[in-house]
Formats: sequence, C-alpha cells, structure tokens
Amino acid sequence: MLLKMIMMVNLLSMFILAAGFPYGVVDGLRMDYYLMSCPFAEQIVKNTVNGALDNDPALAAALVRMHFHDCFIEGCDASILIDSTKDNTAEKDSPGNLSLRGYEVIDDAKDQLEEQCPGIVSCADIVAMAARDAIFWAGGPVYDIPKGRKDGRRSKIEDTINLPFPTFNTSELITAFGKRGFTAQEMVALSGAHTLGVARCASFKGRLSSADPTLDSDFAKTLSKKCGGGDNAEQPFDATPRIFDNFYFNALMRKSGLLFSDQTLYTTPRTRGVVNGYAMNQAMFFFDFRKAMIKMGTVDVKEGSKGEVRQDCRKIN
Ligand code: HEM
Repeated sequence: MLLKMIMMVNLLSMFILAAGFPYGVVDGLRMDYYLMSCPFAEQIVKNTVNGALDNDPALAAALVRMHFHDCFIEGCDASILIDSTKDNTAEKDSPGNLSLRGYEVIDDAKDQLEEQCPGIVSCADIVAMAARDAIFWAGGPVYDIPKGRKDGRRSKIEDTINLPFPTFNTSELITAFGKRGFTAQEMVALSGAHTLGVARCASFKGRLSSADPTLDSDFAKTLSKKCGGGDNAEQPFDATPRIFDNFYFNALMRKSGLLFSDQTLYTTPRTRGVVNGYAMNQAMFFFDFRKAMIKMGTVDVKEGSKGEVRQDCRKIN
C-alpha cells in the first residue's frame, strides 16, 4: 500500500514537472491542451492580437485589464464577455467595467478558431492568451500559460461588487487579493499592470478635492487640469503608457501614482519595499509579474462539466 502511494506521488510529481506547471496541477489545465485538438490555437490568437495592436496600441492595456476583470469575478471563465439580455444584466454593464474595451479582438480570434476547430477552444483561454500576447507585444515578459479553462454560464452585474475599487487602501487591497489566494507582494506585482494604459478622471478626481500629502503638488495640478475635460478625460498611469516597463513604480516613488490605490502601495510601509525593489530592478518586476499572472490565470478555473466551450463568446450556449 505504502509503496503504491509512493509510486503515485512520484508519478504525479513527474507529471507536474513534465507539464512545467509551477503552481501545482489545476486538474484539466495543461500547457499542451490544444496540441492535438487545435494545434494552431496559440498562433491564431497571437496573430490576431498582434494585428489588432499594430492598428491600435492602446488595446494592449485593454486586453490585460479584461483578463484581470474576468478572473476576479467568477474565476477565469470569460464571464466578462457575456452580453446582457432582457432578463439579465451582465458583468460587462457594471460601472466598473464600462470602460473595458477589446471585445472585438476576442471575437475575431474566436471566429477564426471556430473555423479551424469548431467547439474546441474556450473563450476563457482566448482571453488569457490574448492578455499574455498583449504584454509581450508591449515589451513585457514572455511566458507560457496552461490551457483548458471552460467558459462559465453565469455573468451577473451584482458579482462585480467584488472588484477592487480605486479608493482602496493597501490593507483593503491585501484583503481583496488575499481572498483569491494572492500575497501582498503578488498584489503589488499585479498592480504593475498599470504600467500600461490610462484611467479616466472619474476614477481619480476624488483625490483632488482636498490637499493630499501623498500626491505631488505639480502632478495634482496636471490632474485637475485634465479633469477640466470632464469625467471621461484620460490620464496615462505613467510616462510610457504603451510600453510595459517599471516606470509605474518609479512614478509611485515620485508621489505621482494616478489612483489612490496605486499611491497607497508606496505610502504604506508594508508594501513600500516591494515598490522600491521593482522601481530599481525591472528584471525582478518582470519575474514576479510573470509568475503572478500565470497564477491569476488559474483563479477559480472551471473544468469539465462545470463549464462549456461557448460557440459565441458573447452568449451562453
Ligand atoms: C490593485 C487593484 C486595482 C484597482 C483598484 C484597479 C483599478 C483600475 C481603474 C480604476 C482603472 C481605470 C479605469 C477607468 O478609469 O476607466 C484601471 C485601469 C487598468 N487596469 Fe487596473 N486596477 C487594479 C489592478 C489591476 C490588475 C491586477 C491589472 C492586471 C493584471 C490591471 C490592469 C489595468 C490596466 C491595463 C488598465 C488600463 C486600461 C486601459 O487603458 O484601457 N489592474 N484599473
């Protein structure tokens, strides 16, 4: 019996090593999931993403954010892609998701995949691969992700209450990410995705109404001027919003974090050291970010009969 158990454990660890999967096995997820059933899946997604980003570089940020908002609500199951119907208001129509973009990139990849290998590649995997490819396109780290996520059958506006708010302080952020199994350091690394893209004035204007010692006074003036353009006026998170680098962390050190939830990572002693480390060492940020993103892509993944492979990413089958 004992011998049998030892052999089983050995077999399991050989499988984990063979799959190159660093976080233990989430049963159905595998690096080579589509190897036999849709061998060009990765290439099709990559070409679609590259083509879209060559036309509109700002979509890189959008695709990364989409993956995050997908995984944090109901797990990485493409629930973010579902359209509302007359009986159901879906996640994408909640206030926190209204500025999400890039749905057409996912639709485009899905259409091509359905032509090549109908009913095989899930929308959840496409979202995860698209985010990964967008990061690389923007100059970020390259990484492989395990695939085999199934698409969920639930997408409800009320679930999005569980997304972190830009008004959160560090301990609220640690709690929100901790609930999904992330450490404080992983939360800081993931926040580094704000090296890409922009936020609208609506997301940071609350910081401008009273004097804030954690906000650089010149930067505060820039933001006030920006907000003169209305709630939808966009401000980049850092000086290079289309390049995946560590400038975001340098901005935090200069009290020029855009959201309260960004600046708080530097204000709070508990996470300041991590911010300093990433600001000084981009390779370290890339290393941790890569690991944290692979982990984020496995949050509450649905496997087997717990989900489906949607025919149309916007509709439950
Ligand atoms: C730590 C908690 C987080 C909060 C409170 C937060 C909040 C926000 C807010 C308010 C915006 C701007 C939305 C708008 O004004 O339209 C934004 C943008 C963005 N977020 Fe986050 N976020 C967080 C973490 C993350 C994570 C973990 C990722 C990805 C791994 C991410 C990726 C992005 C990206 C790339 C953008 C720019 C989108 C664009 O330019 O289209 N965020 N985030």
